[in-house]
Amino acid sequence: MKKTIKDYDLSGKKVIIRCDFNVPIENGIIKDESRLKASLKTIRYARKNNAKVILLSHLGRVQMEEDKQKYTLKPVAERLGNLLRKKVKFIAQTRGEELENAINTMKDRDVILIENTRFEDLDGKKESGNDKELGKYWASLGDIFINDAFGTIHRSHASNLGIASNLPNGIGFLVETEIKKLQKLTHKPKKPYTIILGGAKVSDKIGVISNLITKADYILIGGGMAFTFLKAAGFNIGSSICEKEKLSFCKEMLDKYQDKLILPIDVITATEMKENVQTHERFINEIEEDEMGLDIGQKTIEVFKQYLDDCKTIFWNGPVGCFEIEEFSNGTKELLNIITSTKAYTLVGGGDTARAAVTFNYQDKISHISTGGGASLAFLEEVSLPALDIIDEK
Ligand code: 3PG
Repeated sequence: MKKTIKDYDLSGKKVIIRCDFNVPIENGIIKDESRLKASLKTIRYARKNNAKVILLSHLGRVQMEEDKQKYTLKPVAERLGNLLRKKVKFIAQTRGEELENAINTMKDRDVILIENTRFEDLDGKKESGNDKELGKYWASLGDIFINDAFGTIHRSHASNLGIASNLPNGIGFLVETEIKKLQKLTHKPKKPYTIILGGAKVSDKIGVISNLITKADYILIGGGMAFTFLKAAGFNIGSSICEKEKLSFCKEMLDKYQDKLILPIDVITATEMKENVQTHERFINEIEEDEMGLDIGQKTIEVFKQYLDDCKTIFWNGPVGCFEIEEFSNGTKELLNIITSTKAYTLVGGGDTARAAVTFNYQDKISHISTGGGASLAFLEEVSLPALDIIDEK
């Protein structure tokens, strides 16, 4: 068992908590606060136990100097302060005198949020490349390191692996909960167990498909990735999205697991992906050359329902259509309705699927919505999770 925040005496200590505040922000407004809310328990616990709380997080992928304005964590500090009912002091730098002075003058229960760790990527990918000096430097700012960023648990970055290598460490309540909930799917999941996979790319899901096809009873495939499978199965997919270099993988999977991999039998097509466009409901052998598939059709929903109705465990990662556009949202909406009407343990991977569940108001009916997208897939694939593996055992 991994050490947790509860295994340490925090009183008077500088506790560095790595959070995942990678939230959508538009014009300074946070569009989805789920990750902020999910982090509160650990931060509150640290404050209650008289720690000096130093928060770190990434936001977006910072590639150019101009990205800094878009990806500053300042709005997060403000909103987090409101949620905690305690001022969160924002330090607009990732290292330097201002940061060090602010930390040295902290009182117990104070909270500081350091600027986006990925600003360090502008200087030779120091954060994402787990620069040893950077990890050591951040570690030097605190006494104890708590990793509560489940969303980056599969990454080897300076702000998780790097700091953990240099300080006594543990996991926070968010990571502890994620592990418990996801283990229901890795440790003898209740059967029947069905997985729904969607999203644009087969390449993002290869590991999960190869690994989970033997553990799950069925994998239902929707979203853009379904079209690479459909093409591999010999259908004409018109101008639908297709990853040519993954066709042989899809063919191999279909040959081997044709009874377990369930593909759409009809789709909603259009010539463009935009609102108010003319749509058609087509069987998959009827897609016209200039059309692309943008959602699953009604007959597919009925077929998928048969695989889901009596399930005891359902995992879903990746919307089955472009749900942000009304015309292509029906499949994702209907599947949310179907899975939440079953008696199954339902787990939805983070990112777009979590956003769809919130958009269509199903968040309270799902057993667990993971805060991690790629991280939840990596957890289920049972590959190594560097930022978790490094955490000390009890
Ligand atoms: C996520 O949104 O999945 C996490 O915050 C990880 O972000 P990343 O894929 O940019 O590392």
